[in-house]
Amino acid sequence: MASNNETVIKFSSVFFEYVHPKLILEDVTFNVRAWKKITIMGQNGAGKSTIFKLITKEIEPKIGKVHTPDSSTIAIAFQVMPVEDKELTVQQYFKKYKKALEEENIDKEISEVLRAVNLKTDLEKIIDKFSGGQQARLLLAAALIQKPDILLLDEPTNNLDKDWIYHLEDFLKEYKNTVLVISHDAEFLNSFTDWVLYLDVHTKIVEQYVWNYYDVIEQVSKKIEKENMHNARMKKEAQDKMDQANVFAHKGWKLRAVAKKMKSDAEALKENMWDKRREDKAIAPFTIEIQENIGWEILKIDTIWVVENNEMTQKPVWKILRKDSHMLLSAPNWMWKSTFLNALTSGKVEWCTIWENVKIGYYTQDFHNMNFENTVYEELRKSGPWLTEQEFRSQAARFLIDWELMKAQVWHISEGQKGLVAFCALVFQKPGLLILDEPTNHINFRHIPIIAEALNNYKWAMILVSHVDEFVWSIRMDEYLDLDQL
Ligand SMILES: Nc1ncnc2c1ncn2[C@@H]1O[C@H](COP(=O)(O)OP(=O)(O)OP(=O)(O)O)[C@@H](O)[C@H]1O
Ligand SMILES: [Mg+2]
Repeated sequence: MASNNETVIKFSSVFFEYVHPKLILEDVTFNVRAWKKITIMGQNGAGKSTIFKLITKEIEPKIGKVHTPDSSTIAIAFQVMPVEDKELTVQQYFKKYKKALEEENIDKEISEVLRAVNLKTDLEKIIDKFSGGQQARLLLAAALIQKPDILLLDEPTNNLDKDWIYHLEDFLKEYKNTVLVISHDAEFLNSFTDWVLYLDVHTKIVEQYVWNYYDVIEQVSKKIEKENMHNARMKKEAQDKMDQANVFAHKGWKLRAVAKKMKSDAEALKENMWDKRREDKAIAPFTIEIQENIGWEILKIDTIWVVENNEMTQKPVWKILRKDSHMLLSAPNWMWKSTFLNALTSGKVEWCTIWENVKIGYYTQDFHNMNFENTVYEELRKSGPWLTEQEFRSQAARFLIDWELMKAQVWHISEGQKGLVAFCALVFQKPGLLILDEPTNHINFRHIPIIAEALNNYKWAMILVSHVDEFVWSIRMDEYLDLDQL
């Protein structure tokens, strides 16, 4: 184990790109000392998960070095369940991460970490059969079972309810080793981290800040303001010198040398301008238009299957969703909200009727309704084939989807970028029934109020699942369905 104050992660002038020429990190240098608890902040797609992949050596820098002491062990709790792990049993899953094929104590260790993440399960259960919240806890447990010196957590609060987030905060406060966390949940981060690494999506460098999340946002905008003022001053001085040089240039040959010198001074001033930065942008306000020519009634749920005393029982519900009604669907973390929504949207269950011709806009928790082989362009075009190229591109740009991103395969874009692509698709689709399963996961905090506003103003039937209270409170709700209270 590293001693206190020893450097355990060192990035020295790291340059990285997935595809040439699109640098994600440009001359990134920072150190992390042992036992510190650190937050990584930055816009969606800035490269936060990429920094973790460099630390775990899954990828290598193109230039520069990432150094971790040979004696330190590193474990990562991934942002989403890797596809190749979904078919494993719980036991196979933990063995894989513990890298212990024959170890005698493995079952004991598995039960210890499962207790730490408060999950009771049979070890033969398949990972894919767990709910989103349970999978989030399995991701964490797979990192904990490795008892690492350096623990990396990539968006660990996605899909977790409030109680669980408090539990995780306490756990991390007590944790006696180095922890780096990527998250957009400010309250969560502020409760246990010492300082912040801020990855700027425009300059592609990492800056270190002490204090908490909100202070950093303020400090970053002050810095940008100062830099803009400096640049404006340099620009003005350069312009004045050029104007003077032009005057001297026309006053005879003796002054031509002075004019030349002034021009070169003006060029030097321009070079003194700092790299232009902009504040991280939020997506533009948007409206999800509604489907025309459908009736007032959209959906009817007669009964719901629930587990009672270990048996499946059917309970009467009688919910009808009409035009302009928003319904909040809630249930504890272990209940199958996503499975319920998948069944409901399939049109194949007898307990739920969706009126004919109603177009469903479904924002899924794991984006499983996107074709990951497609490029972003192809995926989005499916939802808006009738749009002109210009309309299409300008609407996508409002969601910060530029041409570079359009060319990437869905596989390769970041989780938050997938979320923004999914919202853009909903705008193109003009649905009659909007279903949203945890739509704030992975999304940068700047975009969340804009998304809430769009949902609040949506004029047809909507079903929302979200564990983020502040988000839910900012959206009008007319109906409630609590699967735990039937
Ligand atoms: N395998 C890949 N090939 C090409 N581009 C990639 C690949 N993986 C990631 N990218 C791109 O690299 C950038 C950084 O991705 P990364 O996943 O590190 O972002 P992030 O900061 O973690 O974002 P989020 O907050 O959305 O999780 C993104 O623009 C993404 O589209
Ligand atoms: Mg990420």
